[in-house]
Amino acid sequence: MKDQIRQVQENALSEIAASSNEAAAIEAIRIKYLGRKGAVTELFKNMGSVPASEKPEMGQLLNALKNAVTDAIDEKLRNSTAAGEETLEKIDITLPGISRKQGHIHPITKTIYEICDMFVSIGFRVVEGPEIETEHYNFETLNIPLEHPSRDAFDTFYLKSGEKYLLRSHTSPVQTRFMEKNKPPFAIVVPGKVFRPDATDASHSFMFHQVEGLAVGDNIKFSDLKGALSIFAKQMFGPDTRMRFRPSFFPFTEPSAEVDISCVLCRDKGQEASSKERCSLCGGKGWIEILGAGMVNPKVFEKVGYNPKKVTGFAFGMGVERIAILKYGIEDIRLFFENDVRFLSQF
Ligand code: PHE
Repeated sequence: MKDQIRQVQENALSEIAASSNEAAAIEAIRIKYLGRKGAVTELFKNMGSVPASEKPEMGQLLNALKNAVTDAIDEKLRNSTAAGEETLEKIDITLPGISRKQGHIHPITKTIYEICDMFVSIGFRVVEGPEIETEHYNFETLNIPLEHPSRDAFDTFYLKSGEKYLLRSHTSPVQTRFMEKNKPPFAIVVPGKVFRPDATDASHSFMFHQVEGLAVGDNIKFSDLKGALSIFAKQMFGPDTRMRFRPSFFPFTEPSAEVDISCVLCRDKGQEASSKERCSLCGGKGWIEILGAGMVNPKVFEKVGYNPKKVTGFAFGMGVERIAILKYGIEDIRLFFENDVRFLSQF
């Protein structure tokens, strides 16, 4: 028995000494000697067959063996912890950290804020209206005749309920909604979504955004419209931007105009270039259309109960996507709505 004890102790201590510092390897040795079926444990079980006279001595020797093996294993485990700390110290704190990506507003929202802020800075206030409209506000109050093509079911999204409701095709109905409830003078801008059943391509979307403008008061003149819009054009596209008005037609303004700015890509050198190197944006014309505008038609004032002999006003409406496309040089309107963060994160 004494020899067995000595043998087990020698084996255990040399195995512990030779073992790697890995905690798992040390644990395996602990089980081999001190576990339920371990060599040391087995020796304790043999105590039953030891003659009573030898029991005290054998007991002491066995306890000494158990303590020696336990101590050696504990010591080894302490080293293994030390080894773990060494690996920790190898972390390179100069490596770049893991950054969290922060979200931000959509480029269309950003453009809407920019347009509205600019008009607010010259005295306009921001008003909103419903996206689901009636024929009354989308067409009738705006003097759009019954036979007008935009009233056709193919040109407007009608809701199922007996063609009573539709998705507004422009933000202009907010003009008459606002005038019915407010007395002039006032100046408002109206941002919002509009809907048209256009087939989607690089420059068309069935949903897009507009900002409407309306200023009504005593003696508001066409020159006031020109002044407000030229401040807008310079603020949005740079101080060198020039503007021109072309005669046009809208049922709710008279006279009406389409407003162009000097091309933001070729800086209105388009006309000088030969046909081969024509500007891809303005096609060599030197001008690009950005909005529709005009003086509020007296018929519209009559519909909302204003006296057209007493008040005058101007109105304009612009497409937000178009403004953003020109400002940022974007080639495809669909990019705004695909939610690809590689595109969106650039703004
Ligand atoms: N509502 C017109 C459109 O969507 C734009 C416009 C607004 C024109 C106000 C004149 C005055 O095309």
